[in-house]
Amino acid sequence: MPPAPAPYPGLVEMEFGVPIPGVIVEESRWARTALKKIPAGILDWPALFGRTAPVIIDMGCGNGRSTLHSAVARPEFDHLGVDILPVVIRYATRRGNQRGLTNVRFAVIGGRELLADHVAPHSVAEIHCYHPQPFYDPREFNRRLITPEFLVTAHRALLPGGRFYLQTDNPGYWAYMRSIMPEFFEWSELSGPWPDAPLGKTRREIMATSKKLPIFRGVGAARIELSLEDALAKAARLPPPVFNADRRLRELDREERE
Ligand SMILES: C[S@@+](CC[C@H](N)C(=O)[O-])C[C@H]1O[C@@H](n2cnc3c(N)ncnc32)[C@H](O)[C@@H]1O
Repeated sequence: MPPAPAPYPGLVEMEFGVPIPGVIVEESRWARTALKKIPAGILDWPALFGRTAPVIIDMGCGNGRSTLHSAVARPEFDHLGVDILPVVIRYATRRGNQRGLTNVRFAVIGGRELLADHVAPHSVAEIHCYHPQPFYDPREFNRRLITPEFLVTAHRALLPGGRFYLQTDNPGYWAYMRSIMPEFFEWSELSGPWPDAPLGKTRREIMATSKKLPIFRGVGAARIELSLEDALAKAARLPPPVFNADRRLRELDREERE
């Protein structure tokens, strides 16, 4: 494969033949999208972005493709992309910077910690979570992100009616997700690609689609009538994320990391 061209103003970068959203701008207009250290306590969104705007969180954003997509398409929203892997956040940050995006920040932090410790109740318009890791080894089942307890914190972080977008190519994980999402969200599923990203919103989605794997997508609006107390009580009754993750899909995880 020929080496990728060095970034220059006007360049549209490609990944697996699909453009990475946004266009590289003159270096003098590059942004600073790295949030190097999440400050202790609750994040002050207006202070973080220098304006007051509805906030979107991309959980496990990987190389940031979906965060960039939304940030470019919806400049009136502010975006925080988070992932536990510093290397992918470095990619995401570089791309956000080179596109001059002032409505994006990227940070290394786990989704659970972010919502539990740093997000004020009812302060977020949307949460997106594309292809959370299914974790195949039973010793790692406790690392699965989508759990009833996590959904309580997501429901609490969202404005009433705020939206939670979920997507996976793992049938076992999907069966689990769709069994618990309606408990906290007015849930609906999508039969085809997201209308605003027909070629794929994320790196994983594009890779899985190229292998003809089915992609499962849904969105839920935070139930307005559900109090924190009731959400916690529900979570205590719901099953943990124990499902067969299908080890055959593991190969794609390895390729994704390359
Ligand atoms: C399968 S990749 C998907 C990345 C991207 N969303 C996509 O669809 O291309 C899953 C990502 O979730 C991240 N991750 C795993 N556990 C996480 C957690 N607890 N909090 C945040 N990110 C996590 C991984 O580091 C990885 O980048």
